[in-house]
Amino acid sequence: MGLFSNPQLRRVAQDGVYSTPLTSGITSIAVMAATYYVTRLALSYMDPNHQKKSDAKKVSDTKLGKLGVNRKEVKLNEYEEQIAMELILPDDIPVTFESIGGLDGIIASLQESVIAPLIFPEIFSSTNGLLGAPKGVLLYGPPGTGKTMLAKALAKESGATFINMHVSTLTNKWFGESNKLVAALFNLARKLQPTIIFIDEIDSFLRERSSGDHEAMAMMKAEFMTLWDGLTSSTDRILVLGATNRPSDIDAAILRRMPKRYAVSLPDASQRKKILSIMLANVPCHPSFDMDEIVRKTTSYSGSDLKELCRNAAMVPVREVLRSRTGREKVEQARQSSKTGGSVHGANLAMTVRPLKNSDFFQVDVAHAAPTEPDALD
Ligand SMILES: Nc1ncnc2c1ncn2[C@@H]1O[C@H](COP(=O)(O)OP(=O)(O)OP(=O)(O)O)[C@@H](O)[C@H]1O
Ligand SMILES: [Mg+2]
Repeated sequence: MGLFSNPQLRRVAQDGVYSTPLTSGITSIAVMAATYYVTRLALSYMDPNHQKKSDAKKVSDTKLGKLGVNRKEVKLNEYEEQIAMELILPDDIPVTFESIGGLDGIIASLQESVIAPLIFPEIFSSTNGLLGAPKGVLLYGPPGTGKTMLAKALAKESGATFINMHVSTLTNKWFGESNKLVAALFNLARKLQPTIIFIDEIDSFLRERSSGDHEAMAMMKAEFMTLWDGLTSSTDRILVLGATNRPSDIDAAILRRMPKRYAVSLPDASQRKKILSIMLANVPCHPSFDMDEIVRKTTSYSGSDLKELCRNAAMVPVREVLRSRTGREKVEQARQSSKTGGSVHGANLAMTVRPLKNSDFFQVDVAHAAPTEPDALD
């Protein structure tokens, strides 16, 4: 009998491997597993959102780390990672309640009836849920009155996790993805509670629903409302905070979910005085400077208008110095030394700027003046 008359030995000789039904089974499982992982990897690279997802993971890891979240205890899925990018770190925000002028009443009320029940629910537990934190709060009022600023101060000082939800993050062109992101928003909020979900310009997201709405957008809104309704005061310490300057554009159903509303109106005289005092706190003013005169002349100015006014006024003495002979010489000196690669010594180039006067306000900078009518051509 020849050596290769046994068919198995003949196969070993041909393949160089001794193959039994068991080993071939293992081999095929290994091949299938390898194919599965390679295909998965390839698909994940072909996924148009691959880069976005891995960036999201990096950013959210850093943010959660800085917030002191234990990643072993708090596991997030890929959608929650994307939402976690919208987390605001208190240390990154320069605004405090102190930097807001004239809104003391609103700040006190927000702290007492919104933030306190959210952060210290045990104090309010004896009231049978009657005094629990509201599920929705709306800040509304004319543009530039400090609504966004208030929200930023809350992010810094409330002690709650703060998600600054951009609507563009929730809208995804892939069918069904937006709903998953909305679900992830509420899940993440629950995992990191107490949480404030802030939606600035909420009218652009939750405006009156109309038949012209994109279907995906309508579905996303519906999902948002359902999950919002699903928040229970006993277990969920989550608040949706919205800000808008067009409250009339907001869906009535949404307004109903925001029972606590704060009108942030244009500042009156005493409020303007407070705002101006904050804005000019570090600006040297002339002994004759009369803030009341500025207050009188700024009726119907918003906080943002006052900021612009102070910025322009503070620029007047600086411009004067820059246009003076010494100023021009120093500017030239600085230009030359930067050309030759030399360092610019602040001490040598320091210019003394005179204190601010009332006459610096309401000056029109020619460069900023509104364009005049062109001369008529004959
Ligand atoms: N009460 C205020 N105290 C101090 N600064 C203010 C106040 N209100 C507005 N400002 C200044 O105006 C800027 C714009 O304010 P903010 O963005 O909060 O306005 P808003 O109410 O959100 O306006 P919009 O409705 O247009 O979004 C602020 O960055 C701040 O410099
Ligand atoms: Mg705003």
